Amino acid sequence: MTSHFLNVAFTPAVKEAQAANGSRQAYSTRDGETVRDSLTDAEAGFVASRDSFYMASVSETGWPYIQHRGGAPGFVKVLSATQIAFADFRGNRQYVSVGNLSKDDRAALFFMDYPSQTRLKLLGHVRTVNLADDPALAAALIDPDYRAKVERAFVIDVEAFDWNCPQHITPRYTLAEIEPAVGALKARIAELEAELAAARQPAG
Ligand SMILES: Cc1cc2nc3c(=O)[nH]c(=O)nc-3n(C[C@H](O)[C@H](O)[C@H](O)COP(=O)(O)O)c2cc1C
Repeated sequence: MTSHFLNVAFTPAVKEAQAANGSRQAYSTRDGETVRDSLTDAEAGFVASRDSFYMASVSETGWPYIQHRGGAPGFVKVLSATQIAFADFRGNRQYVSVGNLSKDDRAALFFMDYPSQTRLKLLGHVRTVNLADDPALAAALIDPDYRAKVERAFVIDVEAFDWNCPQHITPRYTLAEIEPAVGALKARIAELEAELAAARQPAG
């Protein structure tokens, strides 16, 4: 666990709530870390293997806004230990995240791995990049095999991250994840059905 995430998250009101609920003392040893976090291999590998995440931005009227982002596994690229990026696919053309981030570049990203009950929270500063202006970034982010129209890139300078405990995460599996197990079962069922059919054949 990094301390800077807690430094950002623990506002005076949060610390008051901790004091009122008896956890301020335990957390006080983590106060004061102001150096930005750098991703280690663990965070980089986790981010780079996700097929989706949630991104929260803040509207200019102060409302939080959260949107799901998805793509082929690995669609979020780790550009360096302090920078990640992903392609923004054309959607309903509401541009809520794009608009919010144009006024306040801070975002919270939430990455889940349901089968292994792991989650990673990441805070960062986001800028949108016109991919026509940055062919190298476009080449890194655009997956020609994935059916989506890429409108722009989101490039995120990492501020801080924090891993969470696995509590209350129900393991869930994608079709691709269950396919190997189901495939083996189907093959075994086909084998047994063939044996059964052969056994039912009249003798002679
Ligand atoms: C045809 C189409 C319709 C969509 N409708 C919705 C919708 O009603 N609500 C929603 O949250 N996302 C919807 N999406 C997904 C969003 O458009 C997409 O996640 C996009 O990134 C939204 O970004 P924003 O929420 O920052 O505006 C739709 C996508 C497509 C392609």
